[in-house]
Amino acid sequence: MTAQRACGLSDLVQDEARRVEIDGVPMAVVLDSNGEVHAIGDTCTHGDISLSEGFVDGDSLECWAHGSAFSLRTGKPLNLPAYEPVPVYAVTLDGDDVLIDPSVTLDVN
Ligand code: FES
Repeated sequence: MTAQRACGLSDLVQDEARRVEIDGVPMAVVLDSNGEVHAIGDTCTHGDISLSEGFVDGDSLECWAHGSAFSLRTGKPLNLPAYEPVPVYAVTLDGDDVLIDPSVTLDVN
């Protein structure tokens, strides 16, 4: 599989998460305060909650339901109750296009 357009860079709001779905794979895409774009699995590993409905804090995304924050770099939860990581996807930019290959997860652990 190849990288596909997830959204436009100009569609992203700094420090907010946007839910996208590529080939049925839900992802939370975040433009952080350093201008870096991240993509992690959108489903919290503690419950069936969309992480993109949560809160960006630095380079983490916090689930609104019970407060586990997931690293945007490693996918690991930084605090309980979640203890399993979410996948992290490689993001490439091509002009205004944010490209993600849903079949490639970064080995960051
Ligand atoms: S559902 Fe996300 S922390 Fe509980």
